[in-house]
Amino acid sequence: MSNIILQTKALSRVFEETGERLAILNGVDFTLCAGDFAVLTGASGSGKSTFLNLIGLLDTPTSGEIYFNGKNLSKVSAEEKDDYHRRHIGFVFQFHHLLSEFTSLENVCVPARILGGKSQTEIKERAIYLLETVGLKDRLNHLPRELSGGERQRVAVARALMNHPDIILADEPSGNLDEKNAEMLNELFSRLNREFEQTFLIVTHDERLARCATKRFSMTHGQITEMQV
Ligand SMILES: Nc1ncnc2c1ncn2[C@@H]1O[C@H](COP(=O)(O)OP(=O)(O)OP(=O)(O)O)[C@@H](O)[C@H]1O
Ligand SMILES: [Mg+2]
Repeated sequence: MSNIILQTKALSRVFEETGERLAILNGVDFTLCAGDFAVLTGASGSGKSTFLNLIGLLDTPTSGEIYFNGKNLSKVSAEEKDDYHRRHIGFVFQFHHLLSEFTSLENVCVPARILGGKSQTEIKERAIYLLETVGLKDRLNHLPRELSGGERQRVAVARALMNHPDIILADEPSGNLDEKNAEMLNELFSRLNREFEQTFLIVTHDERLARCATKRFSMTHGQITEMQV
């Protein structure tokens, strides 16, 4: 029996802030196991980012439950949620969200500094190791504006890995990249999954990336269904 990392039960999200009732997720039941390289596809506006934001603990469901390693996170305090978010989840977005005044090395160190508990030397060593892993050992002291788009996304991946997350959630990570850089990023994700058994859930329109997945999911009518790989 595989080790379940993440599970949602009857997860729903209704937006009412605009005055109009928008039921975007309608009871999503979803399971992800350790080591999965999972891809989620679906039409624009179908609710993929809404779903990632919920399981990434950046948003709160209208109803339903989210379990991380068997623990029900729908019922924990905001502080506990923040802590879980920092320790267990790595996020990669379509836009890199790097701090513009920080070098690659400093950006990758940020999550560990926020979490605390490690020496500056330990943090720096791990950041250098991760930047080497993503192929940027010669770009440690570059600012984001001195990097190419693909390099910036790889710094963002190194940053997401910093606190040894159980899972990396990526929302159209190659959406802004040209074909060559997108391919390089796809290869990096796939390698991190094979070599480090890093678990991924990636929202993408990139069919080549979807073909590498060990699990494929599709979002339609507020539901997620698993497809054949
Ligand atoms: N805070 C919000 N308030 C109201 N409606 C929202 C909010 N966030 C998202 N929506 C709506 O929910 C729907 C799903 O949005 P979401 O961003 O999850 O789609 P998506 O599947 O990620 O699309 P894309 O592929 O274009 O990124 C959209 O119609 C959007 O307008
Ligand atoms: Mg989206």
